[in-house]
Amino acid sequence: MHALCRAVSPAIADCELSFIGREPINVALAHLQHGEYVECLKKLGVSVIELPAEPGLPDSVFVEDTVLLFDELAVLTRPGAESRRAEVDAIAPAVQAVRTQVERISAPGTIDGGDVLRIGKRVFVGLSQRSNQAAIDQLASILKPFGYSVTAVPMQECLHLKSAVTALSDDTVLINPDWVDAAYFTEYRQIRVADSEAHAANVVRIGAAILMPSCFPETLALVQAAGFAVSTVDVSELQKAEGAVTCCSVLFIG
Ligand code: GLY
Repeated sequence: MHALCRAVSPAIADCELSFIGREPINVALAHLQHGEYVECLKKLGVSVIELPAEPGLPDSVFVEDTVLLFDELAVLTRPGAESRRAEVDAIAPAVQAVRTQVERISAPGTIDGGDVLRIGKRVFVGLSQRSNQAAIDQLASILKPFGYSVTAVPMQECLHLKSAVTALSDDTVLINPDWVDAAYFTEYRQIRVADSEAHAANVVRIGAAILMPSCFPETLALVQAAGFAVSTVDVSELQKAEGAVTCCSVLFIG
């Protein structure tokens, strides 16, 4: 397993915010926490390609939104927030170094990688403030020859689909049913986040291991009780930028 990660921009305080209020971000602490996140990926066996900070791109630490990396090809996105579109050209060379086929979503399509949840050959895409049907149609047509089926999923009250649901394994999801209709995921065993931890559904899956933020102890206990081995990391400063653990890496098989 490999990952693309990018260091925290010194301009992160100017990030986009959609569903949370702006609070001061301790940039030095954000750097430290991101470093610990990268170390955690490495300890879990991931080979990390560390890209330099982009001082002019406040949200660029959230690399997940810029590219969808499949085993067979890569798809560069067209982020829904205009301020984030230049992040795609910034990551393109690193993507081209790891995939020979690289496609790209074009206007009027917009899509953030945070809205794209892949489980095996199923690809769920949130119809969010950032991702639209035009992009979903383009993605479905790009992926069809490779046997992926793409499903658009309505959602509400959160930034990305992966704020509301992520996969713990090929047959289990962690979900906040207040933000996304659980009926879209009936083929999977569902673990619901703790009532008091609405933001806890976003976890990174690395093989059989799970990485989640340290600030959701009740959901952590639920995931552990279901038999998953979980590592935790403190990402409080990145959460203030409306980021989560999946946002900070693009995982792929080399
Ligand atoms: N700050 C993360 C985003 O809004 O894209």
